[in-house]
Amino acid sequence: MDGNGRWAEGRGLPRWAGHRAGADAVRRAAECAPELGVGVLTLYAFSSDNWQRPAREVMALMRLLHRFMRTEAANCVENGVRLSVIGRRDRLSLPIRRAIARAESKTAGGERLHLRLAIDYSSRDSILRAAQRARQVVDISRDSFARFLFEPEQPSAPDVDLLIRTGGERRLSDFLLWESAYAELFFTPQPWPDFGRDDLAAALAEFHRRERRFGQVAA
Ligand code: FPP
Repeated sequence: MDGNGRWAEGRGLPRWAGHRAGADAVRRAAECAPELGVGVLTLYAFSSDNWQRPAREVMALMRLLHRFMRTEAANCVENGVRLSVIGRRDRLSLPIRRAIARAESKTAGGERLHLRLAIDYSSRDSILRAAQRARQVVDISRDSFARFLFEPEQPSAPDVDLLIRTGGERRLSDFLLWESAYAELFFTPQPWPDFGRDDLAAALAEFHRRERRFGQVAA
């Protein structure tokens, strides 16, 4: 969800205002995703490297994430959305951890959309933790290894089909590296706060035009 800061700066606003507008875009995306046929939506809300941002920006992001967890769970239940969080929790404040746990348990029955928020997330760290958990297993396969990417109590999710990065940059920034082995990549200059239903529909239309061969030859 890139481009929040530039979106705000371009309007003469502080960067946190871009993140606040970004949080509104998250709500819109969660609302239209199931209507567009998306079953799992994973949003990169805060990377483990984002801790290195100025303390005021980190605080603003944490406040937004906390508010989102507290206020959106009821909406999610109403709309059949299951909310879950991937990433480290031990560096989040206790109130945020509690809000996440409450939102996850309240929305656990949601079946229209699995909305995953990546918070304090690093794909390399997630692969390292999986390798530590898997080291006792003899004959580990790709599939059995992939199961270790999820924390024991966490709902699993399939590999990524389509990876969208807004804001004009063309890189993966430590996001779902294992899970994106055969993901189709879609980069758009649109900053995240302006990304709406039409943009998601356009990205999905482009995805459906692509031929996915998974290393094989065309049928
Ligand atoms: C990257 O854009 C974006 C982030 C580091 C934060 C993303 C957070 C949100 C969209 C809001 C909070 C989320 C929820 C679920 C409530 P950037 O700040 O690096 O933008 P820039 O490249 O223009 O500076």
